[in-house]
Amino acid sequence: MPHADDSVLIETQHLTRTFGQGAQQVRAVDDVSLRLHRGEIASVVGESGSGKSTLARLMLRLLQPSAGRILFEGADVTRQSRLPELRRYWQRVQAVFQDPSASFNQFLTVRRLLERGLGLEGSRLDSKERDARVRWALERVALNPGEMLAKLSHEMSGGERQRVMIARALVVRPLLLLADEPTTMVDASSRASILNVLLDLRDEFGMAILFITHDVSLATYVSDTLFVMHDGRLVESGGVERITASPEHAYTRQLFADAFTMSERG
Ligand SMILES: Nc1ncnc2c1ncn2[C@@H]1O[C@H](COP(=O)(O)OP(=O)(O)OP(=O)(O)O)[C@@H](O)[C@H]1O
Ligand SMILES: [Mg+2]
Repeated sequence: MPHADDSVLIETQHLTRTFGQGAQQVRAVDDVSLRLHRGEIASVVGESGSGKSTLARLMLRLLQPSAGRILFEGADVTRQSRLPELRRYWQRVQAVFQDPSASFNQFLTVRRLLERGLGLEGSRLDSKERDARVRWALERVALNPGEMLAKLSHEMSGGERQRVMIARALVVRPLLLLADEPTTMVDASSRASILNVLLDLRDEFGMAILFITHDVSLATYVSDTLFVMHDGRLVESGGVERITASPEHAYTRQLFADAFTMSERG
């Protein structure tokens, strides 16, 4: 699948994040430079502890880098740390994470949760427009707004909570969605439908998606581009056809070999 547009949406340059001091220091993300274009679907793959989630948290500006920078639509956003600037950034860049319960406020209905998700834009819309946008987002993740809007967290299944969190991320119509293992908690058929829904949004309004996953075969199936991480470093990146046909790095070959054996077994 070719990406929809040639313009660079987000770029990391020598992005680095360390944790701890001295001999205990971990280079969770080490000198990572990558580019994502408008409407591009890419996946970061790599084993547990390779730095995938840290990279996502840096790109979302939830975590300050130790070195390097992030350019979004050509502008350096690395030093932006005031809340109004970050809120503007989050109108463009949203994320969904693996565990929806962690980010759920148990006292908010789905309607209120999604209205809050509208952020800055929410205050510019009237109540009818807000309602339409909230319904649009729920429909995008195949939830029935009539059934869901008044629900609280404990009244939903794990799969419904996960879909609501995806709807909450989509409600601003972000240009970039960072999706860190977003479908691990849902069953296989819901997983396929959620993935298809996300992929459709590229065509609907040009959203780019960066999937973060252990699942190499899924990454290969949905992506234009793969980024392979190992010990915090980006060891290989490129078009999915090229990487699957002729992986250059020994670690990438190993990842594909493991994924292939597992799918044969299972
Ligand atoms: N807040 C933190 N404090 C200290 N070390 C951290 C912190 N966050 C991550 N690390 C370390 O950084 C490294 C990368 O972690 P990260 O969570 O980014 O890996 P990951 O690729 O997302 O793994 P997984 O596939 O298990 O989710 C690990 O060694 C981890 O222990
Ligand atoms: Mg992770």
